[in-house]
Amino acid sequence: MDDHLPQSVRVERRAVSEEESRRANGPDWDRYADEYQATHGTFLGDAGFVWGPEGHTEEELHVLGDVAGLDVLEVGSGAGQCSRWVRTRGGRGFGLDLSHRQLQHSQRLDEETGVAVPSVRGTATHLPFAPATFDVVFCSFGALQFVSDIEDAVGEVARVLRPGGRFAFSVTHPTRWMFPDDPGEAGLTATQSYWDRTPYVEVDDATGVVSYVEHHRTLGDWVRLLAGHGFVLSDLVEPEWPADHDRVWGGWSRARGVLTPGTAIFVAHVAVQ
Ligand SMILES: C[S@@+](CC[C@H](N)C(=O)[O-])C[C@H]1O[C@@H](n2cnc3c(N)ncnc32)[C@H](O)[C@@H]1O
Repeated sequence: MDDHLPQSVRVERRAVSEEESRRANGPDWDRYADEYQATHGTFLGDAGFVWGPEGHTEEELHVLGDVAGLDVLEVGSGAGQCSRWVRTRGGRGFGLDLSHRQLQHSQRLDEETGVAVPSVRGTATHLPFAPATFDVVFCSFGALQFVSDIEDAVGEVARVLRPGGRFAFSVTHPTRWMFPDDPGEAGLTATQSYWDRTPYVEVDDATGVVSYVEHHRTLGDWVRLLAGHGFVLSDLVEPEWPADHDRVWGGWSRARGVLTPGTAIFVAHVAVQ
């Protein structure tokens, strides 16, 4: 959901380490958080659970199932809107995010709504929780596409989930990688290889410092990652563009959404031995 490109950065495609990805993305989300919440906060809802720019909610899709009485962790929780929704449904929702400023917005919404989401600053590749702590872990466009060491991130989710626990996450649909991130006509012509995993990198022109990174995995990569960490994949939801939805969010628009999927939601659970 990259709609934050300032004028003074240049775009590159090159390898970036986990440390460099984190060093770029934490401060980037700190800088961007106020604008992000001002632009998208109403659409997300202070205690709402939206799975992606198409606007499909957890209430509609039932990806997590009944969360009442469950321990639920959101990785890349931002201002905690989804976890707050979980709390309103009787789940014990907790948040984790890399960005201090995003977590300050979460605290603001805790106070404004009276529904508090206990949250911690951390990174998806080192979850600060004991093994088998949660029944459900989810990300709604959260940390996963910002992480380089994705094996570590998925391994961490497997570690903190209880046997049979559910893992669900939405990411930019992998097929979108082939197209320019443009909501108009230009975004409908494939210009780069689906199989090229070289990360998308923004570099600050003035300092040469990497200021934003996104990583790509193909559909097959995700299936292998999940299977390799003991997950059983039960669904891959590809939400269709709703008839009454005209909102543009970065590269997501009606023009593209009626032709190509913009969001992929993977649903898996830890195999019970
Ligand atoms: C697009 S927002 C999604 C948050 C929320 N679901 C929403 O829709 O606003 C992505 C979030 O992932 C966080 N993030 C990025 N890299 C992360 C990492 N390595 N570990 C944890 N969170 C990360 C960002 O700080 C940001 O709050």
